[in-house]
Amino acid sequence: MFEEAQYFAPVSAQDDGSVVVELATSHPGFADQVYRARRNAIAALAVNHRPGEPIPAAEYTEQEHRIWSLISHELAIKHRKYATAEYLEGALRLGLPTDRIPQLQEVSELLEPLTGFRYLPAAGLVPLRDFYGVLADGYFHSTQYIRHHSVPFYTPEPDVVHEVIGHANALANDRFAALYRLAGAAARRVESEEALEFVSKVFWFTLEFGVMAESGELRAYGAGILSSYGEIEEFRGMDIRPLDLRVMGATQYDITKYQDVLFRAESMRHLEDVVGAFWETCDDDSIAELQAGVISR
Ligand SMILES: [Fe+2]
Repeated sequence: MFEEAQYFAPVSAQDDGSVVVELATSHPGFADQVYRARRNAIAALAVNHRPGEPIPAAEYTEQEHRIWSLISHELAIKHRKYATAEYLEGALRLGLPTDRIPQLQEVSELLEPLTGFRYLPAAGLVPLRDFYGVLADGYFHSTQYIRHHSVPFYTPEPDVVHEVIGHANALANDRFAALYRLAGAAARRVESEEALEFVSKVFWFTLEFGVMAESGELRAYGAGILSSYGEIEEFRGMDIRPLDLRVMGATQYDITKYQDVLFRAESMRHLEDVVGAFWETCDDDSIAELQAGVISR
């Protein structure tokens, strides 16, 4: 996921067919050989997966299922207070299990009848154009591992909690699913890497970290906020700016810290009118004009 991808652990396929995930020394699971072996095995499932085949089941420990149960319970409480109505409606429709980690195949089967979206397993970083491009076809690339059990409320990488609780609940809502598809179509349409980066920054500041005015208060719809136990308590105190494509496309962010600059949509309709309409029509020229400040919305 664009610069988010910088903190995916690198994955390499070995000559003997095995797959190795290179965790940084600062990763909470670095010294846990059992966890690392499981990470390698889970990454191998994605590396060896072929589109159209069912997603192979990942093996999780009882301890990991309990982590999911703990986080999903705690986040559900916070979502009632901080998540937008459309996200909550998606979560209700999807009905994710709360007592165990759902397999990605199961998430796909819950999601497809609702909005047509299906999950694809990802070992780690997916090239930008592929990650976004397949959204246009209703596919979402997702990691399958879960964070290390020693720090249940922290992960340096996007794990299955982020991918499923953060994204699948939004993808279960028709209006958000339509926005994800439009982002994918935009990523396919643009040609230059610069234009693609602009499209992905708008994605980052909306579908990953977007906030919205709702009934007189600020609520979140971005998957990055809604899957983070700490960040969800902090977003109302961040630097909140108007929803502006040109500014979003020019704003730098640091993936290793809480996102401190956020962009507020005034309503779901406002998000669709500004961001949805942008993704629906943008091309290299219109993005270059936006960047030059010739056209500002
Ligand atoms: Fe994400």
